[in-house]
Amino acid sequence: MSKVTIVGAGNVGATGANVMAFKEVADEIVLLDIKEGISEGKSLDMMQTATLLGFDSRITGVTNDYSATAGSDVVVITSGIPRKPGMTREELIGVNAGIVKGVAKSILDYSPNAIIICVSNPMDTMTYLIQKSLGLPKNRVIGMGGLLDSSRFKCYLSKALNANPNEIEGTVIGGHGDTTMIPLRRLATYKGVPAESLLDKETMDKVVADTMVGGATLTGLLGTSAWYAPGAALAYVAEAILHDQKKLMSCCVYLEGEYGESDICIGVPVVLGRTGWEKIVDFNLNDEEKALFAKSAAAVRKTNAVLKDINVL
Ligand code: LAC
Repeated sequence: MSKVTIVGAGNVGATGANVMAFKEVADEIVLLDIKEGISEGKSLDMMQTATLLGFDSRITGVTNDYSATAGSDVVVITSGIPRKPGMTREELIGVNAGIVKGVAKSILDYSPNAIIICVSNPMDTMTYLIQKSLGLPKNRVIGMGGLLDSSRFKCYLSKALNANPNEIEGTVIGGHGDTTMIPLRRLATYKGVPAESLLDKETMDKVVADTMVGGATLTGLLGTSAWYAPGAALAYVAEAILHDQKKLMSCCVYLEGEYGESDICIGVPVVLGRTGWEKIVDFNLNDEEKALFAKSAAAVRKTNAVLKDINVL
């Protein structure tokens, strides 16, 4: 029996639960929210799709009752407010830091062995906060951002190449911020062929730029942040862990010297399996990419410093 808890039944959390149920990622999915009735209602609605979609995962909704989350193998934290048009993810820190810290503590009271996936923004800093305040083994704390950004990168590449997105490889590392993420253009391929050899520089520049503001573009269109791709991405991470898939993807993890950085959580290529993130893969960045990574890490560190200023760390 495998059990996942998703904290926060907003658009992202609920979509994640929906995708997980449909793909039968876990036997049991608990959706928890502070707003009375929301988790219960969304769970019931999703369970009524079971015979239509043909799944047998069980989804339960609860209002702030952490005892219902007991014994979860994986817990996804989506709590906090999403950004509004014109806002950066970093501006959410004042509200979200306290919420995320409290949620993570309550979760551990009932699921001391859980692997935690952080989705709340500013994601790199919230992952760092969870890592530092709970003192869990580093492999059990994973931030979801790079996978989502990589998925957006591949989407824009597929459009530019007029190709099937599933035949594209592309990875985004660094921070999950409009100016901190690093789409690795040199390593993007179409069926193994470097995408840079198939696209002119101007087109590739645009693909990279569009990827970096991928979330902001959607916030502008929707009036709030996106949910289909973030929900599918968090389910993808949970699936790789619970099904011990050993899949390689970009996630935000605690570095101790890898990629030249320490005491920071930031996006790097990791292999995910049943024990969480199992290893970091060195993509052998060139000097230009290394410089971008160092710059990204400096920006993430600046946001992390706010945690001390507002007394949550
Ligand atoms: C995004 C938010 C979830 O990138 O960070 O859509």
